[in-house]
Amino acid sequence: MSNKTFAIIKPDAVAKNVVGEIIAMIQKAGFKVLAMKYTRITKVQAGEFYSVHKERPFYGELVDYMTSGAIVPIALEKENAVEEFRKLIGATDPTKADEGTVRKLFGTGIEANAIHGSDSDENALNEIGFFFSKSEVVGNQ
Ligand code: RTP
Ligand code: MG
Repeated sequence: MSNKTFAIIKPDAVAKNVVGEIIAMIQKAGFKVLAMKYTRITKVQAGEFYSVHKERPFYGELVDYMTSGAIVPIALEKENAVEEFRKLIGATDPTKADEGTVRKLFGTGIEANAIHGSDSDENALNEIGFFFSKSEVVGNQ
């Protein structure tokens, strides 16, 4: 099992100026930051990142939303990272997320839900590679 996962603080949370609070929650939960940047992506990049959803009715809106402002991609490490991180962020729909989760605290809707978390070990490694070159990730030097 991989001990890595990948997160993106999404444009709604960046616009609300809660990046620091979210990173503090992630670190307090025991995740180590391996790589992080404050950046913006193009529609082509967002479309590729979320290509698994390209047949879904919300795909176009999702691409527009993810390119609407700055984002913060983060590579993370912890034992059982993928599952532990999904617990920390909560359900996709913030109204259904458990109390104290990142999405419950900072999400504003099913789309503008503050944060992304990888859903499998394989996707975590692919997603880290999508945003960071190997030498940028702590531990690979
Ligand atoms: P994520 O990939 O961002 O961590 O979110 P997730 O696994 O909890 O949810 P997923 O089904 O993978 O959906 C990806 C993102 O698409 C947006 N979404 N919009 N309008 C809608 O019905 C809808 N459903 C999903 C959300 O931003 C969701 O996180
Ligand atoms: Mg997903």
